[in-house]
Amino acid sequence: MSTPLQTVQTYIPPGFIDLGVGNPQPELLPLPMLRNAAQDRLSRGDNDFLQYGAEQGDGYFRDALAKFLAPRYGFPVSHDDLFVTAGNSSALDILCGLFTNPGDTVFVEEPTYFLALRIFADHDLNVVSIPTDEAGPVMDDLIHALGEHRPKFFYIIPAFQNPGGHTIPAERRKELVSLAEHHGFLILADEVYQFLAYTQDAPQPFGAHIRSDRVVAMNSFSKILAPGLRLGWTQAHPSIMQRLNACGLLDSGGGMNPFTSAIVQALIENGGLDKNISHLVDVLGKRVQIMDAALREHLPQARFTTPHGGYFFWIQVPGVDAEDLQKKAQAHNVGLRPGIRFSSRSGLNDYFRLSVSFYNEDEIQQGILRLRDCLKT
Ligand SMILES: Cc1ncc(COP(=O)(O)O)c(C=O)c1O
Repeated sequence: MSTPLQTVQTYIPPGFIDLGVGNPQPELLPLPMLRNAAQDRLSRGDNDFLQYGAEQGDGYFRDALAKFLAPRYGFPVSHDDLFVTAGNSSALDILCGLFTNPGDTVFVEEPTYFLALRIFADHDLNVVSIPTDEAGPVMDDLIHALGEHRPKFFYIIPAFQNPGGHTIPAERRKELVSLAEHHGFLILADEVYQFLAYTQDAPQPFGAHIRSDRVVAMNSFSKILAPGLRLGWTQAHPSIMQRLNACGLLDSGGGMNPFTSAIVQALIENGGLDKNISHLVDVLGKRVQIMDAALREHLPQARFTTPHGGYFFWIQVPGVDAEDLQKKAQAHNVGLRPGIRFSSRSGLNDYFRLSVSFYNEDEIQQGILRLRDCLKT
């Protein structure tokens, strides 16, 4: 018998509420907006975007993106500083390929985005994790680890972290850059949640620090438009940009996603991207309030900090093994992501991650009630 034909990565059975899933809800993917932008762009007469693209990415797209970013970032952004990627996963993979060799050590936060760990495993990297607090990596632990290792890079998620929810304040960002310069490692800043700010803005992104040749700031349209676009951008010092532009992948295939870039350029220029971000901030911000209230009412044993942005609640229930809880929760038709998935040292067993991205307010409340019932047993 042949396997069923599959389109999307994650299948959730009907009736199941998987609060662990970090994908955007299908209703939040802006099809009409993209249809209009595509219609507009594909009727303009030129067809350059069907050709192998410029290695750094379509210049007109980078220009539109730079103009979009500068006022929101609060510092000048030039199209020269932007490199178009197929999203942060692809950026990470390329950077690992260019800047590491198998067996090299890299640092990550504990907890960290679990699928980045998979990319580092593909490159046979030795991962060392640095504990985090409410303000990101604990600097004393980082300094101690730098006494023992010479990492090629430190992968961080500085704004509304996945899964921790925390944001690194401006002062600690500066200290990180100083340490990177002093010890000669790169900072790979994955800023996919930067624009999803509900109750507090994140500090300026790491693009503010690219005068340093130790900083790479990565962002993506996956969380502000749609992951299926496979489109993102990276900001870095000219020396890093040169390495990226000269890589074999681009020499052979040309720049990333010229076709998608052209459509997203039209969407940026007609104000669609701005509108979409405002809509997401509105919808997801309300969901955070709903999940927060439901957790406080129904799961009083849960310890967490209300996130100011992003997708995630990072919850500790002391004494509860979250992998066991996940198995039991299946029977209650509710899902979560156990903390151990976000640990590179098999820790964080009594933590789990919940997301507001995939379910509406009623479903979130329903999901928390199911979790309450599950915890009672
Ligand atoms: C921290 C983080 N980085 C990267 C990604 C994936 O990004 P992209 O779709 O741009 O590859 C995600 C998606 O969940 C994420 O949470």
